[in-house]
Amino acid sequence: MTVSPNVLGYRCSLCGQDYAPDFSGYVCPLHGDSGNLDLVLDYAAIGAANNPRSLAAAVEHSLWRYLPLLPVGDPGYVGTPLRAAGWTPLYRAERLGAALGLPHLWLKDDGRNPTASFKDRASAVVVARARELGAGVVVTASTGNAGAALAGMAAAVGQPAVIFAPETAPPAKVAQLLIFGARVLLVRGNYDQAFDLSLAAARAFGWYCRNTGYNAFTAEGKKTAAYEICEQLTAATGAGGAGWRVPEVVFVSVGDGNILTGLYKGFMDLAALGWIDRLPRLMGVQAEGSAACAQAWAAGVDTITPIAAHTLADSIAVDLPRDGVRAVRAVRATGGAFVTVSDDAILAALAALGRDAAVFAEPAGAAAYAGLVQAGQQGLVRANETVVVVNTGSGLKDVKAARQAAGQPVVIDLNLEAVRQALV
Ligand SMILES: Cc1ncc(COP(=O)(O)O)c(C=O)c1O
Ligand SMILES: [Zn+2]
Repeated sequence: MTVSPNVLGYRCSLCGQDYAPDFSGYVCPLHGDSGNLDLVLDYAAIGAANNPRSLAAAVEHSLWRYLPLLPVGDPGYVGTPLRAAGWTPLYRAERLGAALGLPHLWLKDDGRNPTASFKDRASAVVVARARELGAGVVVTASTGNAGAALAGMAAAVGQPAVIFAPETAPPAKVAQLLIFGARVLLVRGNYDQAFDLSLAAARAFGWYCRNTGYNAFTAEGKKTAAYEICEQLTAATGAGGAGWRVPEVVFVSVGDGNILTGLYKGFMDLAALGWIDRLPRLMGVQAEGSAACAQAWAAGVDTITPIAAHTLADSIAVDLPRDGVRAVRAVRATGGAFVTVSDDAILAALAALGRDAAVFAEPAGAAAYAGLVQAGQQGLVRANETVVVVNTGSGLKDVKAARQAAGQPVVIDLNLEAVRQALV
């Protein structure tokens, strides 16, 4: 089995049990399917060969600029979407920030990935891993974006892929699955049911399983957004010193909790290497109708009790977050918080992001900004703090929701008087 020299092994996030680098399972065998594994990296070797300046000098404008910190080898495929994931823009959001009394507000727009969501980070690294393993078929369950990302990255390299998604997934996401040539199985059920069926199918047919959180390499791909936030913030603010700048607070929406877990891993990597001197407070944002992690966090427990999820933000509609334990712990460990937002607040955030920051988000992406608004009202953010809000998906993924947020356009007859009338 190919093992990157960066990898010392795997550690169970529930019981701390260590597994060797050539461990071939997905999760710790002691807890059924729920013992998600953390990759243990060789920080001494990574730190001896790399530093923030050497990485900043990289000409690679994708997440692969961080190859020295990743648990896979160079995947090749230069000039393809697999190689193009990540290195999304970090925008200064002055007008949005002014409205909230936050002069140091930044937006990380991961809708600008090759298949238009944050999930490209995970899928690029998982497909690289699948190629190393010589996998025949890669499978994932998805609310839509993880599947589109896997289908896209798989299409980039000619890798067969099977995607399980709810039949209610937004049409644009389903179109992506189909157009990238994946075998698409829309289930008569929700995401959680698709997840369980995909695991059973992976076992039955010997497929390599990308499922969010279940596959340890998903968080390793997603952690690259934390590196980018620090590197880009440092470059944009001209901060000096040998290390990188860290924001005080990062907001991100939470479905399974794997994006938040991945961001935490990224900041922890940088702290372990001594390249940042503290962690940002991680703020998990859930829809009110899909708040299993927020409820566990509020109750001060690690066990996640499943709920029956209902929200228009389909990407974060999850009954049982499959990476919930790590996400709740990461929020707690960084002194962050969970906030919950209504669907109306998500639509208002979607409109504000477009109007005041020129970022077109899908509902799950806009939820992160709605969370900032909510947190501001709860006094959880201070005016002098540097705040990063991560938009995790493009608004073109869900045009129906965008039209709900933006209202209807005016239709006029072809004369100047009609224009005049329309403007009053
Ligand atoms: C746009 C978007 N935002 C947020 C999330 C939530 O990520 P996670 O399930 O890792 O918490 C997803 C997951 O599908 C997503 O597609
Ligand atoms: Zn364990």
